[in-house]
Amino acid sequence: MPAILSEYDRRANSGVLRPDPAQRIVAAKLDALAQALNHTARPGLFSKFKKPPRAPKGLYIHGEVGRGKTMLMDLFHAVVDAAPKRRVHFHAFMQEVHQRLHAARQSHTQDAIAPVAKAIAKEARLLCLDEMQVTDITDAMIVGRLFEGLLAHGTVIVTTSNLKPDDLYRDGLNRQLFLPFITLIGQRLETVSLDSPVDYRLGRVKAHETFLTPLSPASDALLQNLWVRLTDTGKGTPRDIDVLGRKLHVPQAAAGCARFSFAELCEQPLGPPDYLALARNFQILFLEHIPALGPDRRNEAKRFVLLIDTLYDGRVRLVATSAQAPEHIYPEGDHAFEFGRTVSRLKEMQSASWWGKKIVET
Ligand SMILES: Nc1ncnc2c1ncn2[C@@H]1O[C@H](COP(=O)(O)OP(=O)(O)O)[C@@H](O)[C@H]1O
Ligand SMILES: [Mg+2]
Repeated sequence: MPAILSEYDRRANSGVLRPDPAQRIVAAKLDALAQALNHTARPGLFSKFKKPPRAPKGLYIHGEVGRGKTMLMDLFHAVVDAAPKRRVHFHAFMQEVHQRLHAARQSHTQDAIAPVAKAIAKEARLLCLDEMQVTDITDAMIVGRLFEGLLAHGTVIVTTSNLKPDDLYRDGLNRQLFLPFITLIGQRLETVSLDSPVDYRLGRVKAHETFLTPLSPASDALLQNLWVRLTDTGKGTPRDIDVLGRKLHVPQAAAGCARFSFAELCEQPLGPPDYLALARNFQILFLEHIPALGPDRRNEAKRFVLLIDTLYDGRVRLVATSAQAPEHIYPEGDHAFEFGRTVSRLKEMQSASWWGKKIVET
């Protein structure tokens, strides 16, 4: 007997979790799905004359970062009775899919997506995908047919995402070819938003400095500590984001956070579309090793101004290590006067209210 709701309540009552009405609503949906999975018996249990009942609708859980989406999905996955079940990070899943497609094409399969979807469906009656995010055209062009195949073979999909289905692959290249995937999600998964006012993840950085100076092994270690607190991993995975047909390489990404060095973001020929893509796809940016900028580094200073403006407009949180406090990063040179706005924004971005009013210590 699945018991997602009772397990949620048990954890909330014992103090492991803070009781959260918005989470409880999602837990109830997951509970209903677990019941439905329990009642739709596996195909093998049916006589060959009777068609097995249609698989229940899956769930697409979206909401801001730190709301407990992954926690709820993991609780569901742990408790639900639906063998074979599988839980995997969306990005890792798509990498595996590409490998399997590649292998299938080696054996001259014309249409590799259909057999790969069938094989994956056989391995998972329930597929839990964490952090769905489509940033890459190679993923965007196959997910529609892949998911169609999985669903056709009766796999039930539960997924979490920071984005509403309509916002997936927004501004992506050839987006019109991606739209059938959004329609498919609308038809075959129930979309539920987790509207908790509390960001449980940000509580972990409360009362921690987020703009760390000067550059030293100690500030590196503090940044790494915040990274682990916010992402639950020591090292993120690399990711490519398509920007106007080019690839923006994100060296490390995890749990809505992206991590770059200053050199990687501001000493490369990047511009507004790149920074906008970052602000749209991530909620927190880790920026390491901001140097002091002399007058000869006006190009880097200009990119840094653009980057901070874009993050500010997108309400992205920033964690940084810097050689200098904001007011001393670029004191003289072209546009040093305008850099004043960047200084003030950097300061505001360190404030508790920028990080979120409803932060509870966790
Ligand atoms: N109700 C709660 N009480 C205490 N901690 C919680 C609660 N909900 C979530 N958390 C914790 O907060 C962190 C963020 O939750 P997570 O599920 O990763 O969020 P999301 O996937 O929405 O970004 C996790 O460590 C999680 O265990
Ligand atoms: Mg998550």
